[in-house]
Amino acid sequence: MNTFLRQLPFVEALKATPARDLYHKLRHVPLEARGIARQLADRAAVQGDPGLSRLHAELAEILERQRAEWPHYAFGFRYFYQGYARVHISGIRPTELRFQHYDVAAHLRPTDRVLDLGCNSGFMAIEASYHAAHVDGVEWNPYMVEAGQAVARYLQRDNVHLQAGDLNTFEASAPYDCVMAYACYHTDDHGNREGIDAHFDKLHGLLRPGGTLLFESHYVDIHNPDFHAFMERLTPRFERLQRTFISNGPDRGGDRYYYVLRRGDDHAGA
Ligand SMILES: C[S@@+](CC[C@H](N)C(=O)[O-])C[C@H]1O[C@@H](n2cnc3c(N)ncnc32)[C@H](O)[C@@H]1O
Repeated sequence: MNTFLRQLPFVEALKATPARDLYHKLRHVPLEARGIARQLADRAAVQGDPGLSRLHAELAEILERQRAEWPHYAFGFRYFYQGYARVHISGIRPTELRFQHYDVAAHLRPTDRVLDLGCNSGFMAIEASYHAAHVDGVEWNPYMVEAGQAVARYLQRDNVHLQAGDLNTFEASAPYDCVMAYACYHTDDHGNREGIDAHFDKLHGLLRPGGTLLFESHYVDIHNPDFHAFMERLTPRFERLQRTFISNGPDRGGDRYYYVLRRGDDHAGA
């Protein structure tokens, strides 16, 4: 190893790392490299648009603070987990594509109050705001909330409210017509480990009777018999209107199940 390389602090850090931990430290490197490349490409593409350029500069600054300060795993691999074509953000999971696959707009009415739990950067919530009266988003990572607020401001969406908080302790001022709960009942960042039973109790309490729950599984649920058994036991608390297999492939967040459920009236069956 040449002298220059030997002096780099990260090489010293790696030399001090036990071999068994190296895999865990390095396993995200190729994905992070792709995240950085996506960010550079997006920023280059918006260069001719002063407004979007300013937004992307603001987002880059937020992501930089998240990288330096947020002690937990962040889902976007140095960039965004959710993509959003409206503002030229190429995330791992493109919002417009998910909206289309999940036919979200078909489940929303212009008078609806909607909640997006564990909303990440809030792009799904912002997109829902074009189809509903009001959308709230709750997310424990404050940097993602800040990024979503910047995008909502840029798009002049004043009927969406994104806030930092724990979805488990979030209290609704009134029950919602629709709750979106996408991949947040057991999170890789260890932010939510309450379990699926507690999660559905929470969802039940947040919805009005007859309200709609749009629920996305985790990719690990696909072959998890406990998950499928649980989903079969939801009636009568929730009536299943639809279950769809979503094929994303590993680079787009993995395969998942998507459910459209209607909240029942009877909590006694829980
Ligand atoms: C797999 S991501 C899914 C994000 C988003 N729902 C989506 O599907 O695009 C899980 C999200 O839950 C958030 N999260 C984890 N624990 C949380 C908690 N206790 N309260 C609120 N959000 C939480 C994470 O920060 C992350 O944004």
